[in-house]
Amino acid sequence: MLQTTLNNGHSMPMLGLGVSGMYGADAVRAIRSALTIGYRLIDTAAMYDNEAAVGRAVRESGIGRAEIFVTTKVKDTYQGYDSTIRAFEESLNRINCGYIDLYLLHWPSRSHRREMWRAMETLHQQGRIRSIGVCNYPIPLLEEFQDYADIVPAVNQVEFSPYLYSEDLLRYCQGQGIQLQAYSPLTQGKRLDDPRLIATAIKYGKTPAQIMLRWILHHGVSAIPKSNNVRRLRENLDIFDFDLLPEDLARLDGFHEGLRIFDDPMNYI
Ligand SMILES: NC(=O)c1ccc[n+]([C@@H]2O[C@H](COP(=O)([O-])OP(=O)(O)OC[C@H]3O[C@@H](n4cnc5c(N)ncnc54)[C@H](OP(=O)(O)O)[C@@H]3O)[C@@H](O)[C@H]2O)c1
Repeated sequence: MLQTTLNNGHSMPMLGLGVSGMYGADAVRAIRSALTIGYRLIDTAAMYDNEAAVGRAVRESGIGRAEIFVTTKVKDTYQGYDSTIRAFEESLNRINCGYIDLYLLHWPSRSHRREMWRAMETLHQQGRIRSIGVCNYPIPLLEEFQDYADIVPAVNQVEFSPYLYSEDLLRYCQGQGIQLQAYSPLTQGKRLDDPRLIATAIKYGKTPAQIMLRWILHHGVSAIPKSNNVRRLRENLDIFDFDLLPEDLARLDGFHEGLRIFDDPMNYI
């Protein structure tokens, strides 16, 4: 599995499994299948209501804990310093597999961003968490870190795909040593039928989903596609035996249309 080294020296797989919308025994089954197939990064969140299932799948997988990278996130309703610490304790207990690799602020808080980041730093400094980061932070909110942060976020997880090619944000994060990670990397299926994408997929003998994921990784962005279907889990992982030619990369860059499935984080400034 292709890895990236985060700004604190820890490694993170570039491709992982997002698990929003999976619950209970179905989630355990899908995550165990993913681990068997070769996934080593699982992206959950307190909000997804499946942290316990993630922990169970990891424990039952028979794979060493150190080989698996688990991400979870602070629920939006936990605003402030103490509540962020409490949110972490609760997630750690639910996941129950020793430690969390990456803990993220799920959405920027309009009024408590600083205290929440201070709580993340405390958890990190206490050695209770390996890496800390954010989600949905646009450039102006990342710039604020210069005023109040001791630790630069290791990761910024944002909506990102060929149809939402946030090039300025990518360049900014690269400049600051922040690993960008793409959520909804397959546009939740909304552009998989784009004839231009299909034509590219045919050219490479790959699927539209594989082309999108390859494009994302080529840009140095990590991706966490969600699937609870074994065939599609395999498909999404099978992207390391080809590369896109420069002219095809450039063509896909041109697919950008500002497509957003989720809120524009700029609304949180
Ligand atoms: N930080 C945040 O604010 C935030 C927000 C949204 C999402 N996320 C994270 O990002 C992860 C992924 O994003 P997402 O779930 O929104 O969207 P996504 O990964 O772009 O798309 C998932 C959808 O595509 C389908 N799919 C998966 N592989 C496919 C393939 N090869 N061909 C055709 N269809 C395929 C899935 O169906 P099947 O399951 O039936 O295969 C599912 O309906 C989430 O699970 C979550 O972990 C984070």
